[in-house]
Amino acid sequence: MVVGIRTRDLRKTYNSSPPFAAGAGGFVSGALGHKRRKPPKPEIVALDGLSLDIFPAEIFGLLGPNGAGKSTTVGILTTRVRPTSGQAWIGEHEVWKKQVAVKRLIGVVAQRPNLDFSLTAREILVFHGAYFGLGSQERIQRAEALLDRFKLRDRADQMVRGFSGGMMQRLSIARAMMHDPQILFLDEPSAGLDPQTRLLLWEIIREYNHSGKTILLTTHNMEEADALCQPLGTPQELKASVPGGFLLRLRFGRHSPELLQRFQTRVGVREVRATDHHGADLYTDRGGSLVPEIANLASAAGVELCDVHISEPSLENLFLHHTGRSLRE
Ligand SMILES: Nc1ncnc2c1ncn2[C@@H]1O[C@H](COP(=O)(O)OP(=O)(O)OP(=O)(O)O)[C@@H](O)[C@H]1O
Ligand SMILES: [Mg+2]
Repeated sequence: MVVGIRTRDLRKTYNSSPPFAAGAGGFVSGALGHKRRKPPKPEIVALDGLSLDIFPAEIFGLLGPNGAGKSTTVGILTTRVRPTSGQAWIGEHEVWKKQVAVKRLIGVVAQRPNLDFSLTAREILVFHGAYFGLGSQERIQRAEALLDRFKLRDRADQMVRGFSGGMMQRLSIARAMMHDPQILFLDEPSAGLDPQTRLLLWEIIREYNHSGKTILLTTHNMEEADALCQPLGTPQELKASVPGGFLLRLRFGRHSPELLQRFQTRVGVREVRATDHHGADLYTDRGGSLVPEIANLASAAGVELCDVHISEPSLENLFLHHTGRSLRE
């Protein structure tokens, strides 16, 4: 059985009180005893019409800056967050109507570790297996194999309380794989892992995928997306969708619309975007060879060129081009 993921027009608006209002409902303040008015609840639109088709046995990377709604998407698909509107399916099951069936099919690694600190690593794995109905032999065997795979054997009988952040992360991922789910959700799985462990994780993810499993992971790490994913097209196809491929980020004393228009006329310049009065992004077919021409045009217009940064075709440029934001912002 291979299982995919589908969403249609998912929306999520959070209505949350700011922290200072917590517990303040209806309390009386001031000598006159006026009831303090509750501050209005701010509405946060976390998802605004997300439609996705993730094919069975795909590794799908959800990229986006902080607050883009990645964890909210994972939350909805894993029955933890109720969507405001729209629909989502895991295989043939609509997530909010068939929660039990969905939970059997998925393994989840949340962005924040949620391990029971008072258990040992081995207990966490074995108890999780029991919860999902694995027989006693099978859960012990699987736990042992995962402890080895995630290099946690020498910590197997120690309580999680004393684990480092990276060890907890490895154990969270091992736990999510314990019942051999058809779909694995990994919310920033490599955050806090050292470079060696990150490579080990990539190897484990690929291996799991090769056994026919679907994987949805969120990441800020372009290298990770490049190494693992086919995010809505291959990384190569996506990079090719950025005009020119090269990105020249320029800073000036202060530029002018006339100067930016002049850049637009140079051979190889595909698109010019002002980022503010001082900055401009040029999407171009060539990199370094354009810099002297740009410097000359700026100098002729009496504008100081303060900084030039050239980057080659990358997922980072792609992200910037399509969203106007950097992944690190
Ligand atoms: N429980 C909640 N209550 C209120 N607002 C929330 C809640 N969870 C998320 N939000 C808001 O929804 C938006 C999306 O948050 P989300 O955690 O989905 O983003 P993200 O893409 O996972 O970000 P990050 O890269 O920082 O993990 C943010 O503006 C966030 O403040
Ligand atoms: Mg998140």
